[in-house]
Amino acid sequence: MSLIKAGSLSQLPPGEMLELLHGERRIAICNVGGQLYAIDGVCPHRDGPLAQGALHGTAVVCPWHAWEFDCTTGQHDYNPSIKLEIFKVEVSGDDILVDVA
Ligand code: FES
Repeated sequence: MSLIKAGSLSQLPPGEMLELLHGERRIAICNVGGQLYAIDGVCPHRDGPLAQGALHGTAVVCPWHAWEFDCTTGQHDYNPSIKLEIFKVEVSGDDILVDVA
């Protein structure tokens, strides 16, 4: 386990996303009704920045061509062969911690 601070819970209200940059890796962190989820932040279509897209419920919508992924599972909305990596998220006080190991 390798926990990295991604940001502050007070700055990530429900329905919003933030992006964690860690080395070469981008991770999109989603607040779905107060529950946090983290998925690979790079869209597999053309590398769009998912954290800069929209969050509709649990659906992350890529800002470039609107591919959608479920942030709780990483699953693409209609192509079962496309699934993004997901990451464990913890909250400690106001800190959002993501396990990037
Ligand atoms: S880059 Fe994400 S849908 Fe095209």
